[in-house]
Amino acid sequence: MPSKSRFSLSRRRLLLATAGVAASAPLFRFAQAAVPHEYRIVARPGRAALSGAGRPATDVWAYDGEVPGPILRLRQGEPVRITVENRLEQETTVHWHGIRLPISMDGVPGISQVPIAPGDTFTYAFTPPDAGTFWYHPHANSLQQLGRGLSGALIVEEREALSVDRDLVWLLSDWRLEPDGKMAPGFGNPMEAAMSGRIGKRVTLNGAAATDQPVRAGERIRLRLINASLARIMALRIEGHGPTVVAVDGQPCEPHSPESGRLLLGPAMRIDVILDMQGEPGGRYAVIDDFYDGLSYAVTQLAYAAGPAVGRRSEQPTPTLARNPLPEPDLAAAVRHELKLQGGMMSGMGGMSGMSHAVWAINGTSMTGDGHAGMPPLLTLKRMQTYVLSFVNETAWWHPIHLHGHSFRILRRNGSAVPFQQWGDTVLLAPKDTVDCAFVADNPGDWMLHCHVMDHQVSGLMTVLRVS
Ligand code: C2O
Ligand code: CU
Ligand code: CU
Repeated sequence: MPSKSRFSLSRRRLLLATAGVAASAPLFRFAQAAVPHEYRIVARPGRAALSGAGRPATDVWAYDGEVPGPILRLRQGEPVRITVENRLEQETTVHWHGIRLPISMDGVPGISQVPIAPGDTFTYAFTPPDAGTFWYHPHANSLQQLGRGLSGALIVEEREALSVDRDLVWLLSDWRLEPDGKMAPGFGNPMEAAMSGRIGKRVTLNGAAATDQPVRAGERIRLRLINASLARIMALRIEGHGPTVVAVDGQPCEPHSPESGRLLLGPAMRIDVILDMQGEPGGRYAVIDDFYDGLSYAVTQLAYAAGPAVGRRSEQPTPTLARNPLPEPDLAAAVRHELKLQGGMMSGMGGMSGMSHAVWAINGTSMTGDGHAGMPPLLTLKRMQTYVLSFVNETAWWHPIHLHGHSFRILRRNGSAVPFQQWGDTVLLAPKDTVDCAFVADNPGDWMLHCHVMDHQVSGLMTVLRVS
C-alpha cells in the first residue's frame, strides 16, 4: 500500500492522458467506486436517537426514516435520477441546495413544481455540473420539515478523486428537545422569528450526540462539514490541529488556514477541509464550537487509535481541487444592485405586534413562506450578464443569505477584498455587514434568494430573482 500511495499526481495525469482511459480504470489506487445513477428516497416519519444512546428517542420526519438521510453520491457531469416518495401527512418537495440545475428540478413549490402530495412520488433528474459538498432538504413547510429531521448530504464526486486516506462527511444539526426526548413545539414562534431563530441546545453530528470520531495518527482526511441547522451558526476549531480549507459551499478555493483557526459555518453552509492527523496516538482532541459568547461546547472528539502513525500522505503537499466550470464574472461590465436586509427586533418594523407574519424585508418588501406561484421578482436579470449584488445588512442580526441556481464570487466584505477566491451559494452577514457578490446570470428561471435561518425566510427575508 504505502508504495502505491506515492504514485505521483503528475504521473497519474500523464498515464490518464496517454492511455486515454477513464479515471475509473482499476490501475489507480484512488479510483472511485462506481456511483449509482438512480436513487429512491422516502420522506417519512421515523425515530432517531438524537439525545444519545440509552436516552429516549425522538419522533422525526426523515429521509428513509433516518437522521440524517442517506448520503447521495453523484459524479460530476453524470446524470442522476432521484425518486422521492412522500409518506408524510403533508406535501413536500426536495431542494438540492447549491446544485446548479434547471429550475424545474429546484424543488420550490409553485415555481419549480407542484409539491409532492402525501402518497405521491416525484423524480428529480439532473446532471450536476460541479463537484463538491452539497445537501438536500425540503422547500415546503421548510421550518418544520427541516427542523424535524429532513436533510441529507449530497456529494458530487470529482472525476478524479483527491489523494486522501479517508473522505468524511459531518452533517451538523441542532434540535430543541423536551426532557422526554420529544421535539419541542413552538416552531415559528414570532419572538424567535424576529430574533435569531429556533436554536436548539442539542447538537448532533450525523444524527448522533457527541460521540468520539475514531482516527489514526498520520492519516490525511478530507472532511466535509455541513451545517444543516435551522438557525445555529457554528465556529469550529479542532484542538491541536490545523485544518486547510479547500472548498466553500462546494466550490474549490485557494487552500488556506481559516481566519483565527475557526471554521465559520452559518446555516446551509459547507466547508471542505484537508485535515492531517498530527495528534498523538491514543490522544483525544475536542472539536469545539464557540460561536456564541460563553456557550462553547464540544461537538465531538477526535479519538486516536493507540497504534503508531500510518501512511505518509500528510508529508505531501495539500492536494488541490480542480475548479468547477463556473462562468467567470465580468466585473468591468457588471450591473450592480443593492439589496437591503431589513427588519427584526429593534428595527421598528413591528414584528412583535402580532399584526403580521412579516417581520423581515428585502428592499422594503416581505415575501413569506417557502416560495409559491406568482411571486413577483424583485429584479429581472439579463441572461449572461454579470451582476454584483451588494447585500447590506441593516438589521441587528446575522443572516446566511442564499441564492438558488447559481454560485457567486464573494468579492468584498465591508469594503475589503475577500481573499482566496471564495465562491459560495450562501453568504453569512454579521449585523451591519455589507458584502458584495458577483455572478453571471446564466441559468434561466425564477430563483429564490432568502435567508437560510428558516424562521427568517418564512417571515419575510426572501425574494425572487428572475433570469430571463
Ligand atoms: Cu437550502 Cu432555498 O434553500
Ligand atoms: Cu438552495
Ligand atoms: Cu436571517
